Amino acid sequence: MKTDAKKSQKKTEKEIEKLISKLTLDEKIAMIHGATLFKTGAVDRLGIPAISTSDGPMGVRADFMDDRWIPSGNNDDQVSYLPSNSALASTWNPYRAYEMGHVLGAEARGRGKDMILAPGINIKRDPLCGRNFEYMSEDPKLAASLVVPFVKGVQENDVAACVKHFAANVQETDRLMVDEEIDDRTLYELYLPAFKAAVQDGGAYSIMGAYNKINGYHCCESKNLLDLILRGEWGFDGTVISDWGAVHNTKEAAECSMDIEMSVFADFDDYKMADPLKEAIMKGEISEETVNAKVRNILRMMYRLKMIGKQKEERKAGVYNTPEHREMILRTAEESMILLKNDNQILPLNPAGIKKLVVIGQNAAKIHSDGGGSAEIKALYEVCPLMGLKAYLGGNVEVQYLKGYHVPEKPKTFDHNWQADSLDDLKNTDIGMPTRDEVNETEMRRKSEEERLAQIEKEKTEIHEKNQKLFAQAVEAAKDADAVIFVGGLNHDIDSEGFDRSNMTLPYEQDLLIDALLDVRKDLIVTFVGGSPVEMPWRQKASAILWSYYAGMETGNAFAKVIFGDVNPSGKLAETFPGKYTDCVTAKNGQSGLWGKIRLEEGLYCGYRYFDKEHIAPAFCFGHGLSYTEFSYSGLTLKAEKGRDVKLNFTVKNTGKRIGSEIIQVYVAPIAPKVDRPNKELKAYAKVELAPGKSRKVSITLKQEDFAYFDEHLHEFIADAGDYEILVGASCQDIRLKGIAALA
Ligand code: BGC
Repeated sequence: MKTDAKKSQKKTEKEIEKLISKLTLDEKIAMIHGATLFKTGAVDRLGIPAISTSDGPMGVRADFMDDRWIPSGNNDDQVSYLPSNSALASTWNPYRAYEMGHVLGAEARGRGKDMILAPGINIKRDPLCGRNFEYMSEDPKLAASLVVPFVKGVQENDVAACVKHFAANVQETDRLMVDEEIDDRTLYELYLPAFKAAVQDGGAYSIMGAYNKINGYHCCESKNLLDLILRGEWGFDGTVISDWGAVHNTKEAAECSMDIEMSVFADFDDYKMADPLKEAIMKGEISEETVNAKVRNILRMMYRLKMIGKQKEERKAGVYNTPEHREMILRTAEESMILLKNDNQILPLNPAGIKKLVVIGQNAAKIHSDGGGSAEIKALYEVCPLMGLKAYLGGNVEVQYLKGYHVPEKPKTFDHNWQADSLDDLKNTDIGMPTRDEVNETEMRRKSEEERLAQIEKEKTEIHEKNQKLFAQAVEAAKDADAVIFVGGLNHDIDSEGFDRSNMTLPYEQDLLIDALLDVRKDLIVTFVGGSPVEMPWRQKASAILWSYYAGMETGNAFAKVIFGDVNPSGKLAETFPGKYTDCVTAKNGQSGLWGKIRLEEGLYCGYRYFDKEHIAPAFCFGHGLSYTEFSYSGLTLKAEKGRDVKLNFTVKNTGKRIGSEIIQVYVAPIAPKVDRPNKELKAYAKVELAPGKSRKVSITLKQEDFAYFDEHLHEFIADAGDYEILVGASCQDIRLKGIAALA
C-alpha cells in the first residue's frame, strides 16, 4: 500500500474507533442485523445510515415492502436485464466481466443501493444444481479470472459487490441444512480460489456466507471458513453478510467473523444477532467486543463506499437504464452465444434466401427475466429470440411461429412467496411472516419437495396429451419453409433457486419433437435458451446446434445477429455438457437431490477433470465452441523466466473468410506428479480477434502457482520440480500445440 493510502486508512480506522466508542450496545446491535428484509438498522444520531442491499446477479431486483415479500408495486424499479453469469462466463472475456460489473454497480447505485448481492461464483459441481445459471463455471481459474474485473466494475460505482455464496453452495436440495464433507485439498484447489481472487485481487468489500454446512459447521458460523481462511489467510477486512436465514446459533455466529445477519422473516428483533445476542451479552455469555468487531467491519465498508464521513458528497450517484448499458449488454450477449455444432456450415443463414421462416418452440417467445428466484428482476424490456428474428428480417419475410410443445402455466402468485416459503416450517398463514421452528425445517422442506415432484408427475400427462396436436402442427409447418429454427431449452420453472433439477433431459418432451422435426428437415437449426446442460440424444442427427444461456434484455437481437452472421459466434463452454447424466461423477456419488450429509468423494474430479480421468467423451466438452471461421495454431515455444515463470509464445491465424475471435486455452498436465493430480487443468487463456488471413503472436506467462497443488500437511500450495506438459488448445479436448516445461 502506498504511504498516502496507508495514512488515510489509519485515519479512517481512528474515526471508526471513535464512532464505536460513541455507539450504545442497542445501536451497535441494530447495525448488525436486518431492520427490514433488505436493510440494516441506521443510527441517525451519529449519521450512520442503513445499508441498503438488493439482489442480484442479473440486474437490480425490484423493491419489496419492508416486512413482506410483496413487491412494492412501484413503476420506477424496472432495470437493465444483464446476461446471467453462465452467459458472461461463456464469453471468456474479462473485459466483458468488468463491463457487466460496471453496469450492475451503476444501476444499483442509481437505485440507491449500497450493496448488490452479486456475483454468484460457486463452482458448478453438478449439472443439476438449480442455481447453476447464476454461477460462472466448473473451473476455478476461469471463475477467478472473471470475478476480479466484475467486482472492480461494480465497486467503482461506490457500491459493494457481495460475492456469494461462500462457500461450496453446490446444491439447492436441502440447501439450509446440507452438510458437505469436503477435504481441505479440494476446498483450496476447487471451491475457494475464485473467492480468494475476489477478495485479494478484486478487493471485494463484502462476502455472503452460504446456507450449507461444510464439515459440520454452517458457513455463517464457521471459524475455519470465516476467521482462519477468509480473514486470517486472505486478510479480508470487509463485511460478511449472511445469506437470508443462514444464521442458526447466536453464540456461534457472534463469535466468528460473520458481521450482518439477514433473513426472510419479519420478526427482526428475534434475529439471532438482535435480542438474543443482546441478552447473551447482558448475561456476560458473549463479550461486547464481538459486536464491536462486526461494527468495525461494517463501518470500514461504509467509509469505502463513501456512505459516511466527509467524502459523502463525492459519492457516485449511479444511473440506470441508459442506452450505454444496453449497448454493453448486447455486446456480452453476442459474445456469449455458443455454436455447439455446425455441420456443412448450415449457419449462418442468408437472409436474402428466405421468404418464409418457421420458428418453433416456446423459448422463442418466452420472457425469462422475471424468474429464477432471487435473481428475478423487473426488466425494462426483454427481446426474446422471436422478436429479435422478426425485427432483423423486417416485414417482407413471413415468420410463422408455433409453440411446438406444451408448457404448463405457472401463474405468479404473491399468496406465497417462495423465498419466505423456503424457510417456512408451518406453511405461511400470514404472507412473508412464517413462524419459525427449525426442528421441523428439513421435514417441511422435504415435504414441499415431494409435492413439487408429484406436481411434475401430474403435469407429464397434461403435456403428453397437449403435445400430440402441437407436434403435428409443427412438423407440418416445418415442411413448408425456406428455413426452420427450433428454439427450446429450459426456463426458470426448471433453472431455479430453491430446488435442483431431477434429471438432465429436456422438459416438455422436446426431444421427441426435435427428433420428428429432424426427420422432415435435415437442415433444422436447433437452438436453445437455458441455464444448464441438457441431454441431446438426437445430436448426431442435427447439423446445427446453437446454445444461449439467459443472456439478458438483448438476447433476441444477439440471437438474430448470430443466426444471420452479422456476429460471428465466439462463446465457448465454461462447463462440460455431458452426453447423459449417468456419465457424471455426481450421478454416482452424492448428486444434487441428496439430503442431510453428503460427501464430495470425487474431490477434485468434477467437470472436465472427471471426464478426462475416466476417458468419458462428453457431448460437448469444456471450452468447446465453434466459429463461422477457422483458426490455426502454430510455433509454440516455451521459455523459463525469472523465478519459476514459464513464458509461452505461439501464433494463431484466422484461416477462414470471416472476422472472428478465438478463445485459446492453456492447460497444464503434470507428467509424473508426486501426488494424485488431474490429467490437466486450465491455467490460462486468451481471446484474440482476427480478420480473415491475419495472424497474431500470442504470449502467455504461466506463474509458479499455475503448477501448484495444495499440500494438506504443509497447508500450502506446492509446485514440485519436474516436467509438465503444456497444452494449448481450442477446447479441453481439441489440443493444438504441446510443449514440455521443466520446472526447476
Ligand atoms: C439467496 C441469496 C439472495 C438472498 C436475498 C437467498 O434466498 O440464496 O442469493 O441474495 O436470498 O434475496
